[in-house]
Amino acid sequence: MDGLSRLEYRGYDSAGIAITGVEDSDGGPAGSLTVVKAVGKLTNLRAALAELEAAGGVPDSRSAIGHTRWATHGHPTVENAHPHVSMDGRLALVHNGIIENADALRTQLRAEGYEFTSETDTEVVVHLLDRAFHDPDLISWEGPLDGLEGGELARGWALVAAMITVVARLEGTFTLLALSQEVPGLIVAARRSSPLVVGRGEGENFLGSDAMAFAAHTTDAIEVGQDQIVAVTADSVTIMDREGSVLEPHHFNVDFARDRATKDGWPTFMEKEIHEQPRAIADTIADRLDSEGRLALDEVRIPESLLRGADKMIIVACGTAAYAGLVARYAIEHWCRIPVEVELAHEFRYRDPVVTEKTLVVAISQSGETMDTIMAIRHAREQGAKVIAIVNTPGSTISRESDAVLLTHAGPEIAVASTKAFTAQIAATYILGLYLAQVRGNKYVDEVQDYLEKLEKIPEKVQWVLDRAETVRQTARTMTDVDSVIYLGRHVGYPVALEGALKLKELCYIHAEGFAAGELKHGPIALIDEGQPVIVVVPTPRRPELHNKVVSNIQEVRARGARTIVVAEEGDTSVDEFADVVFRVPATPTLYMPLLSVIPLQLFACELAAAKGNDVDQPRNLAKSVTVE
Ligand code: G6P
Repeated sequence: MDGLSRLEYRGYDSAGIAITGVEDSDGGPAGSLTVVKAVGKLTNLRAALAELEAAGGVPDSRSAIGHTRWATHGHPTVENAHPHVSMDGRLALVHNGIIENADALRTQLRAEGYEFTSETDTEVVVHLLDRAFHDPDLISWEGPLDGLEGGELARGWALVAAMITVVARLEGTFTLLALSQEVPGLIVAARRSSPLVVGRGEGENFLGSDAMAFAAHTTDAIEVGQDQIVAVTADSVTIMDREGSVLEPHHFNVDFARDRATKDGWPTFMEKEIHEQPRAIADTIADRLDSEGRLALDEVRIPESLLRGADKMIIVACGTAAYAGLVARYAIEHWCRIPVEVELAHEFRYRDPVVTEKTLVVAISQSGETMDTIMAIRHAREQGAKVIAIVNTPGSTISRESDAVLLTHAGPEIAVASTKAFTAQIAATYILGLYLAQVRGNKYVDEVQDYLEKLEKIPEKVQWVLDRAETVRQTARTMTDVDSVIYLGRHVGYPVALEGALKLKELCYIHAEGFAAGELKHGPIALIDEGQPVIVVVPTPRRPELHNKVVSNIQEVRARGARTIVVAEEGDTSVDEFADVVFRVPATPTLYMPLLSVIPLQLFACELAAAKGNDVDQPRNLAKSVTVE
């Protein structure tokens, strides 16, 4: 259950576990599996399990599998929650991913008499596995399954053989874990394009979607590669390829995943993470200069000549990370004079983008596990592009599959709505931009250092904004009844407006839209009506060509009845007369402004969600990391 709770960021609409019982007195496997499932967050499963335990219904056991779900096929109901169980109740399976040929397989299985009790694609795999497991013509597989003997060993081999057989028939993406009451000492797993890691313990072993699931028990992890199958007993871990040939395990250390984040006295993780931003930004930009004063990334496996010869950069990401990419474009184009496109990873992948060996692809991802982004970088690398990853999770899939890595040192982000990862991502893109400017010769070392020094001042300015949050909080608390909020921004303020609107949607379930302020008159202004809240991110008055136009926009919406909430630089009095409320941020170079102006918008959404009684850390329908396409 603790392992599951560490994976709850992947989904929390329902959860379940399946437990094998210990052998009966004759040494043979007894009865059926114990399966407990509950809709909603993990606390509901905990309660159901506690109730069963109190009634003596939880068996002594040697193996169990569990799952937290983010619904793809079928509503979040108990029937659709995993594990799914064979018709005789003796084999159970959990699945992440999507089986793309499930419909065809279901039709065949129905014709053979299999009955389905859920709407999921997963149930197809349970029946296939159960059928193969009891097929007299099953292929044979024999390999090390330490600790199993006699009849149980033979059935263990059969379960592995069944998995090999079934996986060959599946299309799509999956991590599968299966166990059977006939072999209570064994778990068999397989993966294709979805993540799976093994934790090697002493007399105990673990499987998890990521290492956090078991890091409290062991830091010795084993990688499971694409299309590999794993058989785990308490004493052995056997990794094999899709044909069942045993492979040498590749171990790595997961010390970093050990610490469990706590709220440290904050009411929510989100509050805590918002307030950790000065440190997250500082840690991300710290210690980047080598002995010659040149900027460095964490890992670079790209020759400098390729970085110099690159003729285009494409930033791919999803959600908040994509907005960090939009901010990055302004800085990187300005510093490096290289065209930068920013594209949602899922759109990039399927539009046949122009990618060549001279394209630098930058993938931004907090988790490093977002399936859309993983697919985008695979596609880019197939075209010969080099991929630079900006990720917050060391050892994650995206960092492993990229040619260079720049880590955001934001620390674990638990709240589903991203805050400190966002600002750390932006800070990291500045580092990347300056690094490229240095390598490509667009900026001299001293110029780069000058930009870096100004960046180093940002954390204390973020703290300044956090220390003056009261106006933001008060304003938010008056707005629990609004059903629409418009956000406007220009230049680097535009992605900030998009991110502000996203935070409000995610946390408050209020319809919110971010617009480029210049676009207002081309359509969105029709939305303005008496009392319509409009939040405007105002550029610094030191850039009058931007500033004055946005101040005009405030007047335009005000003239049509809007209630204006303005994020403006300290000392910019030009907005006072048109603003109902002003959230202040300290003066800073224009390109760095998003790191400050987004802070009040995060606080605003967080406070409003709390005032509405919403679950701030785990908003409805979302998952922290979306691991399906
Ligand atoms: C999900 C989350 C978003 C996040 C996005 C990208 O949709 O709900 O908050 O921005 O994934 O996640 P990543 O881990 O790739 O940054």
